[in-house]
Amino acid sequence: MLLFREKIPADWLPKVLSNLPAVLVDHAHLERKAATTALNLEKYRDLYPRVREINAIAIEELQHFELVLELLTRRGIPFGQPFPSPWITGLMRSVRNGQRHQAIDHLICCALIEGRSCEKFQVLSRALPDLDPELATFYGSLVESEGNHYAAYILMARAIDDAETDKRLDFYLDLDAKLIREPNPVPMLH
Ligand SMILES: [Fe+2]
Ligand SMILES: [Fe+2]
Repeated sequence: MLLFREKIPADWLPKVLSNLPAVLVDHAHLERKAATTALNLEKYRDLYPRVREINAIAIEELQHFELVLELLTRRGIPFGQPFPSPWITGLMRSVRNGQRHQAIDHLICCALIEGRSCEKFQVLSRALPDLDPELATFYGSLVESEGNHYAAYILMARAIDDAETDKRLDFYLDLDAKLIREPNPVPMLH
């Protein structure tokens, strides 16, 4: 289902596995941002009819945020500052202006973030069972939901303009492939 043109860099998994507490804090912020970004999509005219559907995604992301916060509390890890993600910033920088173009680009960026989360959570659920079985189960439990968000955002963009979505998806998949190859030593999901 995922269309990515570049694999997750080989140094990502070891970096994450050796910095799990910091990655969990980053993950909490990622879910928080997923919730607020979903709500921000509701400003686009083309998405007014889908406000309930998008609210449902925002609620699910807020529930994920709560789940990560519970994990942090149980593990005695304080909720701290987020790291800025050069990958997400790089994607968002290419969102064009103009109601319809902006809505399509924003939806595609959200879809790629959800898609990469889905892919990385799957990798973590397979890599963690020996090291941290609780986290392995937790990441496994999020895969389907993030995959559904990916699909929902792509379908929303296609419903606005199918041909334009294809064109921009082609652009953004190349951009994702370029950005994901750039080294990032910070222990974070994206
Ligand atoms: Fe989520
Ligand atoms: Fe999500």
